[in-house]
Amino acid sequence: MIGRLNHVGVATPSIDESVKLYRDVLGATNITEKKAMPDHGVWVCFVDLPNSQIELIEPYGEKSPIHAFLQKNPMGGQHHVCFEVDDIIAARDEMRAKGATVLGTGEPRIGAHGVPVIFIHPKNMGGVLVELMLKPDGHH
Ligand code: CO
Repeated sequence: MIGRLNHVGVATPSIDESVKLYRDVLGATNITEKKAMPDHGVWVCFVDLPNSQIELIEPYGEKSPIHAFLQKNPMGGQHHVCFEVDDIIAARDEMRAKGATVLGTGEPRIGAHGVPVIFIHPKNMGGVLVELMLKPDGHH
């Protein structure tokens, strides 16, 4: 069912500080401006790699869903992995049929890439929070 790895999500207390690591230490050259996603409670910024992306996420507002993660991991850390799927509703239904817990209402939400996404609870995925996203149009 899953297709390409679209991105790896990395939570950070400071996107600005993390950008220094990816740009100055690791030498990434294509890094987007950070943008606010108030509905999701995060700031996001993408580090483009030849074959994938790192999605840096920083809390936005008091109700950010990544506060708890950063309390457990104060330096930040790897937060989720995101795979592309051809049909997000079919993917959700298949996950549920296989006993996995789809987070939230289960209705896909528009994610940072402008396409619908769902998240699968890490308890069903060997401790890894899995994001599934509709394969973006014309993407690779
Ligand atoms: Co993501």
